[in-house]
Parts: sequence; C-alpha cells; structure tokens
Amino acid sequence: MSDNLGAMRRTHTCCELGADDVGKEVVLMGWVQRRRDHGGVIFVDLRDREGLTQVVFNPDVDKDVHAKAHAIRSEFVLGVRGRVDHRPEGMVNTKLKTGAIEVLVTELKILNRANTPPFLIEDDIDASETVRLKNRHHDLRRPELQKNIILRHKAAASVRQFLNAGGFLDIETPFLTRSTPEGARDYLVPSRVNPGQFYALPQSPQIFKQLLMISGFDRYYQIVRCFRDEDLRTDRQPEFTQIDLEMSFVGEDDVMAVAEDMMVQLYQDVLGVSLGTPFPRLSYDEALGRFGLDKPDTRFGLELKDISDIVVDSDFKVFSSVVKKGGIVKALNAKGCIDMSRKEIDDLTEFTTVYRAKGLAWIKVRDNRWQSPIAKFFSDEKKDALARRIEMEAGDLIFFVADQPKIANDALGNLRNHLGKKLGLIDEKAFNFVWITRFPLMEYDENEKRYQALHHPFTAPLEEDYDLLEKDPSAVKSRAYDLVLNGSEIGGGSIRIHQRKLQERVFRSLGLAPAEYKEKFGFLLSAFESGAPPHGGIAFGFDRLISILCGESSIRDVIAFPKTQKAACLLTRAPSEAGKAQLDELSIRLRVL
Ligand code: AMO
Ligand code: AMP
Repeated sequence: MSDNLGAMRRTHTCCELGADDVGKEVVLMGWVQRRRDHGGVIFVDLRDREGLTQVVFNPDVDKDVHAKAHAIRSEFVLGVRGRVDHRPEGMVNTKLKTGAIEVLVTELKILNRANTPPFLIEDDIDASETVRLKNRHHDLRRPELQKNIILRHKAAASVRQFLNAGGFLDIETPFLTRSTPEGARDYLVPSRVNPGQFYALPQSPQIFKQLLMISGFDRYYQIVRCFRDEDLRTDRQPEFTQIDLEMSFVGEDDVMAVAEDMMVQLYQDVLGVSLGTPFPRLSYDEALGRFGLDKPDTRFGLELKDISDIVVDSDFKVFSSVVKKGGIVKALNAKGCIDMSRKEIDDLTEFTTVYRAKGLAWIKVRDNRWQSPIAKFFSDEKKDALARRIEMEAGDLIFFVADQPKIANDALGNLRNHLGKKLGLIDEKAFNFVWITRFPLMEYDENEKRYQALHHPFTAPLEEDYDLLEKDPSAVKSRAYDLVLNGSEIGGGSIRIHQRKLQERVFRSLGLAPAEYKEKFGFLLSAFESGAPPHGGIAFGFDRLISILCGESSIRDVIAFPKTQKAACLLTRAPSEAGKAQLDELSIRLRVL
C-alpha cells in the first residue's frame, strides 16, 4: 500500500535548494531517479520537472525512516521531510544545481510504487521510437522532452503576449466544419443527426479567418490545431498546430513586418538570441534557380548553375536533347570534393533517383584536365564556357542533372542539402530566415489534368497578371509569401482576394465550374459582396518552429502526444474500430475495401 499525502505539503521544487538553505526544514516531492545503498546510508536522487536533489536516509538520523527506505526503487513517487545540510567535504557535485547540499530525511511517504520503467529516464537512451511512444508517460519524464515541452509553452506565451500587445484578438473557429481546401485530404466526421452527412475537420481556419476580417475584427490570431490526412514525414503530423493570424487593410510588407517582429521577440524570449531584420527576400524563381528548392537552406553555398544555353548545341546528346525538349541542365559544384570515391558518387546517384533524376553526370577537375565519363563530348570552347559559369577550380567535383525543370531542380536541390550536411558545411548555430515571394498562383497537375492552387484558392494574384488568368494561368504570379528557416518551410500566407469577381475568375481558372464553386463557396462569395476589406495573413507551423528552436530533427519530439508515420497513437491505440451500436447510431454500414 502506498501512503497518502496526509498533512504533508511540498515546500520546494527539486532544483531550488542551495547552500543558503542549510539548516532549514523542507518538504520535497518527486520521482526516484536513482537509489544507492552505501554501507547503511541510502542516497536517493529525487527528481521533478525542475531538477534533482539528493536526499539521504541515515539510520543515525532516523532509524525507522531508514528501514522504510529499503523498499524504494526507481520511479517510485516520494514525499520527504528533512533538514538541508552541506554535502560532506569532497562530495560536492558542481554539475548539479543543488550539488552543494543534500536533505537528511526525517519523514518518508512512499506516495506510489512503480514497476521497472521500460527504459532509463535520462537523455540519449537507445530505446526505439515505438517503445518510447507506447510508454510516452515515461518518455515525457526524460529531461530532453521536459525541456522541449516547457520551451514550447514559453514560445506560445511569448507569441500570445506579442500579438495581444499588437491588438490581435484571439478568436476560436469551428473544428466541425466544411472542407477547407489546403491541398491535403480531409478527415471526415459523420453527423448522427444528419444521416449520410459529414463534417470535415479544418485543414486550417483559412475561410473563417477571412470571414472574421469581413466581420470587422481587423486583427485575429489563434494558436490552433489543424488536421490534414496526408503522407507523413518527420516534419508532418496529421494534426499539427499553427500560429494563425489575419489582418485587414494591409499589403504584403505589413504582414511580413509583423511576422518578423514576432520572430524577433520569440527568439529573444525563448533563446535570448537577437535576430536581425528585415529578413532577406528571394523570389520563387530566384530560389529555384540558385538552390533548386522553394525552401532553400541558405546557411551554406554550393549554389546551382544553369548551363542549358551552353550545352544545348554540344555533342553530349543526353544534355542537348533534354534542353531541346524544354528541359534544363543544371550543375552543382562540390568544391574540393575531387577525392570522392566511385562508390560515394554511385551512392549520390542513387540518392538523386529518389527525386526521379535519370542520371547524375560528374566531372572531376584535376589541374588542367577533366576526369569524367562525359569529358570527351565537349570542345575546348565549351569546356571554357562551362568552367567559367560553374567557377571550376582544380580539386572540384561537379554534378549535373538534365531533366524537366521540376525534376532537375528537385534532384540537385536535395543533393545540395545532402552534401551540405555530409561535408559539414552547415553552421548548426545559425538561424537563417528567408522570405520566398512571387510564387506562381497555380500549377498544372498532370494527373488531375487541371490547374491546382499552389497555396490555396483564396490567394490574390499580382495585379499586373490579372490579364493572364484566362490566357496563361501558369504564368500568373501570386501575392503569397513563405517564411523559410534553415531549409524548412515554417510559415506561409498571402494577401487574399476580397472581391467576388476576381475570386470567381480564379475559381474558373482552377477548373471549377460556377455551379461547383457556388455550391462549395457560395457563402464566401456572398460575404465578399457584404463589404469585405482588403486583408491578408499568415500561418506558422508551430511544431516545426519549436523543433528548430529545440534543435530537434523530428517534430514528434516537441509534441506531447504525437502520432506515428501511420497516423497512429501507440499509447491509446487510436485509431480503433467502432462498435456496431455506434455505427448504427450514425446510420453507417461498413464495407472495408
Ligand atoms: P500552409 O498550408 O502553408 O498555410 O500551412 C502553414 C504552415 O503550417 C505548417 N504545416 C505543417 N506542420 C506540421 N504538419 C503538417 N502536416 C503541416 N502542414 C503544414 C508549415 C506551413 O508553412 N491557411 C494557410 C495560411 C495562410 O494563407 O494564412 C495555411 O494553412 O510550416
Ligand atoms: P550514358 O551515356 O547513358 O552512359 O550516360 C553518361 C553519363 O551521363 C552517366 O554518368 C549518367 O549517369 C549521366 N546521365 C544520364 N542521364 C542523365 C541525365 N538526365 N542528367 C544527368 N546525367 C545523366
């Protein structure tokens, strides 16, 4: 049987006692990190979320308490009353905040026992993530996760404080709603009282925040859960959190300035780091041109070079034919990597096939000579032109991909990130923010045979491109902006369409028939006609932002109860089957395909 608290009340946390407290009677409560039995004296490191304190059970201090302490094991929950004392000469632990003292226990309550934990409650354990997620309550006790979750709280508090002071109102929006098109699949919820009908969980509060602007609230924010049924990766969860905001009577620069100031305050409050503003800006075209990706990691060089114009009339058919068919050839100069082995180059080739590259050509630059399977195809003149464009120097290793722009950029952009890490070029302490602007409004989807909005269909086109909406939809640029941090897209937003006519034109360009968009978004179109102010906003991926602030590579390590790659919660074992009675109530009959 465990003890109850009775009259015992905690006086201190396990991190706050020091030499100044010597002689005081204190009461501590927490978990047993470690128990050591040293020839009659029992030492326990007592842990709570703040830290550790060594508590001592000495038969000379209290015989009965010492006898009771023999039962103590790891992760037992204790309440101890005792006197703070200096640690004996030579026993001071300078690494521990409370390392100068210990508590000599005079009263012990074993508040609860614990089974042997599945892994040690400490950092750098080698338990698999599956074991960790099944035992998340143990996992969350580890210092690393405690630190992450506490930092997450501090970050949310900082953001709220900043936005409250800026006149933003925290307004809740529905979870049971209609589909909000952000490009992923919806999670559906059946309606019992409307048999055969479903709510969709929001992919974001996009439409509601626009309606709030139309309703006159001027500045809105919410730290809000979003739901997207998409293929999961380390930086994606089926439910994730956004810092979502929207403002009336603004242009791009106004929203971007608020976002930058919010980041400055957040970094100051949470890490004590001063960020410089304004953040650099790159157009989408420039980002793709130089880095191959619309979320470039700007912490290192190795920028890509387009060599299509040089190789189009070369004798290397692989290159020239790709360019003649509308493709491009790009180069990545891995400076000083001439000693890379064939095996390493083969591995990098394999790496690029994941991004659908059909090959990875290469050149090693020895003093005045190229060592390469493709060297023979280039005249001296072409060699000179390439050497100048790619800024080749002796010792360099150059990689090439020839393909449609999307594939060539994607393959080399990801190869660039891979090499940045592999070659140790990344300053892990740097926080490189960059805005990406002037995105295309829509992209042609070959599978669906229609245009798809790059962000969402409510994003305003650039005014000078209105005429292209019908003539050449893929040439229209938008008023969208993404915020990228160290190669990760941490936020995205735009200035919105606020007029019915323009919204209808965009819907039509996206291949929606009037009947269809009126059925889906008629309420929004009418709202535009009720007096909609110009407005715009942005949403930040809070989990991604926190994972970068914590130096974690997976967002699962900054979410208290995350889901696996298969969208499962291993702790509660969700999702699970529904019982017949529940399905009957929902008028649902299952036929699992
Ligand atoms: P967007 O779809 O770009 O914009 O989302 C904003 C940010 O949310 C993060 N994010 C995710 N994080 C974790 N898991 C996911 N599955 C996931 N999906 C997105 C990203 C992204 O930058 N309504 C618009 C915003 C606006 O226009 O104001 C929106 O949701 O960091
Ligand atoms: P091949 O003539 O097919 O043996 O190719 C010669 C070299 O060009 C090999 O190193 C291939 O990996 C490379 N290569 C083939 N196709 C491409 C491509 N689309 N882009 C870049 N390199 C390629």
